[in-house]
Amino acid sequence: MKFLVLNGPNLNLLGVREPGIYGAQTYNQLVAFIQDACAQEGVEVVCRQSNHEGVLVDLIQGALGSADGIILNPAAYTHTSVAILDALKAVALPAVEVHLSDIDAREPFRRVSYPAMACIAQIKGQGFEGYAQAVRLLKAHLLAAQSAAPEVNR
Ligand code: DQA
Repeated sequence: MKFLVLNGPNLNLLGVREPGIYGAQTYNQLVAFIQDACAQEGVEVVCRQSNHEGVLVDLIQGALGSADGIILNPAAYTHTSVAILDALKAVALPAVEVHLSDIDAREPFRRVSYPAMACIAQIKGQGFEGYAQAVRLLKAHLLAAQSAAPEVNR
Protein backbone atom coordinates (compact mmCIF):
# COMPACT_ATOMS: atom_id res chain seq x y z
CA MET A 1 0.00 0.00 0.00
CA LYS A 2 1.40 3.39 -1.02
CA PHE A 3 0.30 6.88 0.04
CA LEU A 4 1.05 10.33 -1.32
CA VAL A 5 1.16 12.98 1.43
CA LEU A 6 0.80 16.54 0.16
CA ASN A 7 1.34 19.73 2.14
CA GLY A 8 0.39 23.10 0.72
CA PRO A 9 1.58 26.71 0.98
CA ASN A 10 3.57 28.00 3.94
CA LEU A 11 3.78 24.59 5.60
CA ASN A 12 7.47 24.59 4.63
CA LEU A 13 7.78 27.33 7.28
CA LEU A 14 6.51 25.19 10.15
CA GLY A 15 8.47 26.00 13.29
CA VAL A 16 8.85 29.64 12.22
CA ARG A 17 5.30 30.37 11.15
CA GLU A 18 2.84 31.35 13.92
CA PRO A 19 4.17 28.76 16.40
CA GLY A 20 1.29 29.53 18.78
CA ILE A 21 -1.06 28.03 16.17
CA TYR A 22 1.09 25.53 14.28
CA GLY A 23 3.66 24.50 16.90
CA ALA A 24 7.44 24.72 17.17
CA GLN A 25 8.35 21.67 15.07
CA THR A 26 9.67 22.10 11.54
CA TYR A 27 8.43 20.74 8.20
CA ASN A 28 11.34 18.25 8.17
CA GLN A 29 10.21 16.99 11.56
CA LEU A 30 6.68 16.62 10.17
CA VAL A 31 8.01 14.54 7.27
CA ALA A 32 9.96 12.32 9.70
CA PHE A 33 6.80 11.94 11.82
CA ILE A 34 4.72 10.92 8.77
CA GLN A 35 7.40 8.49 7.55
CA ASP A 36 7.47 6.89 11.01
CA ALA A 37 3.65 6.67 11.19
CA CYS A 38 3.59 5.00 7.75
CA ALA A 39 6.43 2.59 8.64
CA GLN A 40 4.48 1.50 11.74
CA GLU A 41 1.51 0.67 9.50
CA GLY A 42 3.61 -1.01 6.80
CA VAL A 43 2.66 1.71 4.30
CA GLU A 44 5.04 3.18 1.69
CA VAL A 45 4.93 6.96 1.51
CA VAL A 46 6.02 9.85 -0.66
CA CYS A 47 5.82 13.32 0.98
CA ARG A 48 5.68 16.50 -1.10
CA GLN A 49 5.18 20.19 -0.27
CA SER A 50 4.44 23.07 -2.62
CA ASN A 51 3.45 26.71 -2.33
CA HIS A 52 1.84 26.57 -5.79
CA GLU A 53 -1.72 25.47 -6.53
CA GLY A 54 -0.93 24.12 -10.02
CA VAL A 55 1.95 22.04 -8.68
CA LEU A 56 -0.39 20.51 -6.10
CA VAL A 57 -2.85 19.72 -8.92
CA ASP A 58 -0.02 18.10 -10.93
CA LEU A 59 1.04 16.02 -7.91
CA ILE A 60 -2.55 14.82 -7.35
CA GLN A 61 -2.81 13.86 -11.03
CA GLY A 62 0.53 12.06 -10.74
CA ALA A 63 -0.86 9.90 -7.93
CA LEU A 64 -3.04 8.10 -10.46
CA GLY A 65 -1.39 4.73 -10.96
CA SER A 66 1.39 5.42 -8.46
CA ALA A 67 -0.43 5.72 -5.11
CA ASP A 68 -3.36 3.95 -3.46
CA GLY A 69 -4.51 6.98 -1.50
CA ILE A 70 -3.77 10.62 -0.74
CA ILE A 71 -3.40 12.52 2.53
CA LEU A 72 -3.40 16.27 2.03
CA ASN A 73 -3.16 19.47 3.98
CA PRO A 74 -4.00 22.00 1.26
CA ALA A 75 -3.31 24.84 3.76
CA ALA A 76 -4.77 28.16 2.52
CA TYR A 77 -5.90 26.53 -0.76
CA THR A 78 -8.37 24.55 1.36
CA HIS A 79 -10.60 27.59 1.45
CA THR A 80 -10.33 28.63 -2.20
CA SER A 81 -9.29 25.82 -4.53
CA VAL A 82 -11.90 24.32 -6.82
CA ALA A 83 -8.90 23.13 -8.92
CA ILE A 84 -7.68 20.89 -6.08
CA LEU A 85 -11.23 19.62 -5.49
CA ASP A 86 -11.57 18.80 -9.20
CA ALA A 87 -8.16 17.06 -9.29
CA LEU A 88 -9.17 14.84 -6.36
CA LYS A 89 -12.46 14.02 -8.10
CA ALA A 90 -10.61 13.34 -11.37
CA VAL A 91 -8.21 10.77 -9.93
CA ALA A 92 -10.95 9.32 -7.68
CA LEU A 93 -8.42 7.99 -5.16
CA PRO A 94 -9.49 7.86 -1.52
CA ALA A 95 -8.20 11.00 0.20
CA VAL A 96 -8.09 12.34 3.76
CA GLU A 97 -7.76 16.07 4.50
CA VAL A 98 -5.66 17.07 7.52
CA HIS A 99 -5.26 20.40 9.30
CA LEU A 100 -2.87 21.03 12.15
CA SER A 101 -5.18 23.65 13.66
CA ASP A 102 -8.92 23.45 14.26
CA ILE A 103 -10.11 25.38 11.21
CA ASP A 104 -13.67 25.47 12.54
CA ALA A 105 -12.57 27.34 15.67
CA ARG A 106 -10.75 30.14 13.80
CA GLU A 107 -11.83 32.89 11.37
CA PRO A 108 -15.14 32.19 9.57
CA PHE A 109 -13.42 32.00 6.13
CA ARG A 110 -11.49 28.90 7.31
CA ARG A 111 -14.71 26.96 7.86
CA VAL A 112 -15.13 26.33 4.12
CA SER A 113 -13.16 23.48 2.56
CA TYR A 114 -13.46 22.70 -1.14
CA PRO A 115 -11.12 19.64 -1.17
CA ALA A 116 -13.00 18.08 1.77
CA MET A 117 -15.96 17.58 -0.59
CA ALA A 118 -13.88 14.88 -2.34
CA CYS A 119 -12.35 13.36 0.83
CA ILE A 120 -13.49 10.42 2.93
CA ALA A 121 -12.64 12.37 6.12
CA GLN A 122 -11.29 15.62 7.48
CA ILE A 123 -9.05 15.61 10.59
CA LYS A 124 -8.38 18.96 12.29
CA GLY A 125 -6.85 20.40 15.40
CA GLN A 126 -4.68 17.40 16.33
CA GLY A 127 -1.29 18.80 15.27
CA PHE A 128 1.14 16.22 13.81
CA GLU A 129 -0.94 13.40 15.33
CA GLY A 130 -3.69 14.20 12.80
CA TYR A 131 -1.44 12.84 10.02
CA ALA A 132 -0.94 9.55 11.91
CA GLN A 133 -4.72 9.29 12.36
CA ALA A 134 -5.13 9.92 8.63
CA VAL A 135 -2.65 7.12 7.80
CA ARG A 136 -4.58 4.63 9.96
CA LEU A 137 -7.95 5.76 8.62
CA LEU A 138 -6.89 5.61 4.96
CA LYS A 139 -5.30 2.19 5.43
CA ALA A 140 -8.46 0.84 7.13
CA HIS A 141 -10.59 2.30 4.33
CA LEU A 142 -8.46 0.67 1.61
CA LEU A 143 -8.38 -2.71 3.40
CA ALA A 144 -12.17 -2.64 3.80
CA ALA A 145 -12.58 -1.77 0.11
CA GLN A 146 -10.21 -4.64 -0.85
CA SER A 147 -12.09 -7.22 1.19
CA ALA A 148 -15.42 -6.02 -0.22
CA ALA A 149 -14.14 -6.36 -3.80
CA PRO A 150 -14.99 -9.53 -5.73
CA GLU A 151 -12.27 -12.21 -5.76
CA VAL A 152 -11.60 -11.67 -9.48
CA ASN A 153 -10.41 -8.10 -8.83
CA ARG A 154 -7.76 -8.99 -6.24
C1 DQA B 1 -3.97 24.84 7.93
C2 DQA B 1 -5.18 25.74 8.19
C3 DQA B 1 -5.38 26.71 7.04
O1 DQA B 1 -6.51 27.55 7.29
C4 DQA B 1 -4.17 27.60 6.88
O2 DQA B 1 -4.32 28.46 5.76
C5 DQA B 1 -2.89 26.83 6.79
C6 DQA B 1 -2.72 25.66 7.64
C7 DQA B 1 -3.68 23.93 9.14
O3 DQA B 1 -2.94 22.95 8.95
O4 DQA B 1 -4.16 24.16 10.24
O5 DQA B 1 -1.98 27.21 6.08
O6 DQA B 1 -4.25 24.02 6.82
